[in-house]
Amino acid sequence: MAALPTPSASRSRGAAFAGATGRTGASQKSARTALAARGGEERDVEMSEVASWTGLTPGKEYRLQTMSIEEVAENTSTIRSLDWDRDRFDIEFRLERGTTYNSYIIKGAEKTALIDTSHEKFEELYTAALRKELDLGSLDYLIVSHTEPDHSGLIGKVLDLAAAQGNEKLEVIGSKMCIAYLQNLVFQPFKNRVVQNGVQLDLGGGHNLEFVIAPNLHWPDTMFTFDHKTGILFTCDAFGMHYCSDEPEDVEGVKELLPHYATYYDCLMKPNARSVLTALKKIQDFDLKVVATGHGPMLSQNLDTFVEYYRSWSEKATAKIGPCVAVFWVSHFGESERLAQLFAHGLTSCGVNVEMHDLNAVDALEIMECVGRNQIIAFTAPPRETQAATNIGSLVANLKPKKHQFVVLDSCEDAQEPVALLRSRMLKADIPEALPAMEVKTRPITTQVLHSFEEAGMQMGKKLSQKSKAAAAKSQDKDLSKALGRLASSLYIVTAKKAGVRHAMVASWVTPASSKPLGVSVTIAKERAMEPLLRIGDTFSLNILEEGKPQTLQVMKHFLQRFAPGVDRLEGVDHIEGSNGAAILRSACAYLECKMISRMDAGDHWVGSVAIWEFQVDPTRGLKHEVLEPLEEP
Ligand code: FEO
Repeated sequence: MAALPTPSASRSRGAAFAGATGRTGASQKSARTALAARGGEERDVEMSEVASWTGLTPGKEYRLQTMSIEEVAENTSTIRSLDWDRDRFDIEFRLERGTTYNSYIIKGAEKTALIDTSHEKFEELYTAALRKELDLGSLDYLIVSHTEPDHSGLIGKVLDLAAAQGNEKLEVIGSKMCIAYLQNLVFQPFKNRVVQNGVQLDLGGGHNLEFVIAPNLHWPDTMFTFDHKTGILFTCDAFGMHYCSDEPEDVEGVKELLPHYATYYDCLMKPNARSVLTALKKIQDFDLKVVATGHGPMLSQNLDTFVEYYRSWSEKATAKIGPCVAVFWVSHFGESERLAQLFAHGLTSCGVNVEMHDLNAVDALEIMECVGRNQIIAFTAPPRETQAATNIGSLVANLKPKKHQFVVLDSCEDAQEPVALLRSRMLKADIPEALPAMEVKTRPITTQVLHSFEEAGMQMGKKLSQKSKAAAAKSQDKDLSKALGRLASSLYIVTAKKAGVRHAMVASWVTPASSKPLGVSVTIAKERAMEPLLRIGDTFSLNILEEGKPQTLQVMKHFLQRFAPGVDRLEGVDHIEGSNGAAILRSACAYLECKMISRMDAGDHWVGSVAIWEFQVDPTRGLKHEVLEPLEEP
């Protein structure tokens, strides 16, 4: 695969932060300038003014901007919606670099196609940019790769604008599932065409588009589009990353982008690793030059490397190493997908094989095959009297008492089948329960609830991977074990508070790492319930315990007990809240207030590089008290 000779341009951003509140406060005033590309061609790049958007966080404003590039390849342009400050996505993963929603336009000799739109909050910016790039009155095709609202939020608007210009020929192209989903999203009739895998659409001038049905990347509706003329594969979510910059391609390099690419893969693609491998097989014969994603930069400079990561990660994730779990969720229903994703992420953190399916999209044969290759079946409560609810019958019919176990997860929706009823249906069929049902009594759901689903997944994952871990420990050389045992370690209680959720755990692998700036390294097992609170940018406290003291033994005993998912570990523990919200234990002889600066993947653990913000020695006995000035991040 060779990269296209079109590296990105350097550029200046639009006007300063607009400061308007409400939805968007934007005007599309900008300069269209031919900018010098680095070592290559020139490109027309247009940055819109920066608009502001007030999200759900009171007092916080998010900068929104569009970036239009007239030619990212022959007859191909893009409108990138830059969500500079987005800090959360889907399953409560903190975003470090915002995200983008990318839309593409291909102008063939005879027909024009628009691939995907943008998030609804970009309505003003995106439609203004689109009007400049395109005559909507003559648009022939709107190709929809995937119907999640971050890409499809403006489909209705685009159809309206085209219709207002007298466009009666515009056809929406998508997979069968995509068109079915869209009919429930766009409340107006629209001309559409369902395409199958391998179907081609000729735009003229060599732009022959071939569709690749790639279900579950990330919804069952997903489809890729390959342009045989330019060698660009349009993939929407797949191969994406949440990374907002004014570079449209991956020129920042693998080292900078990989953590974002990997986190995205872990959250969205890993539970669908089997589908990733299938999709990779389907595209293997294409002369691939660029992957144009729906989030983050297009992959051109390091294409082979990034694609290879998907292959190796997915092969690893599907290597059979123990019991496998199928997680069934229900699209467009309550919190079903988010909770199922969190549960699945908890499992994959422990190295358990997971596959996810939408109960709205699977048929009886797919259910039978899936049940055949998995031992634990988890499913979210489906809406009453729907196809998804009927599919629970297929699950029951295929489960075998001696081979399978089940878990019911709440969808947090009033119209759902009751969790108790679903549970008793399974138990009546003599299928044992792998984990108590995750039932949520309160609405709306809290971050604590979200966290408890991930923790439940981790708890089950630990149980399922116990045997393989025990075997690995047994095979470890005894002398090596002795040597490792001599490495210095001590005892600490790590505490954190994030989005209202507080947590605590015992840690022992903590090492001084730097003196300027003052820093330590902390090692966290990926399967720890605390792990979601210790991601890059999170703050926490390290409580240092004094060896041999009765209060140390007491506190250790408390934190080493087995807790049910979602239980507050600090209940009944004498503590005060530090400046970062994390608990400071009164039994600690000292504590450090810390911030996670970076993390390195170390097999079944993360090694975190941690900056120390503040420390106190013996805060309760007043022997010494010292507060440091906040330090610069290393
Ligand atoms: Fe980026 Fe699944 O939407």
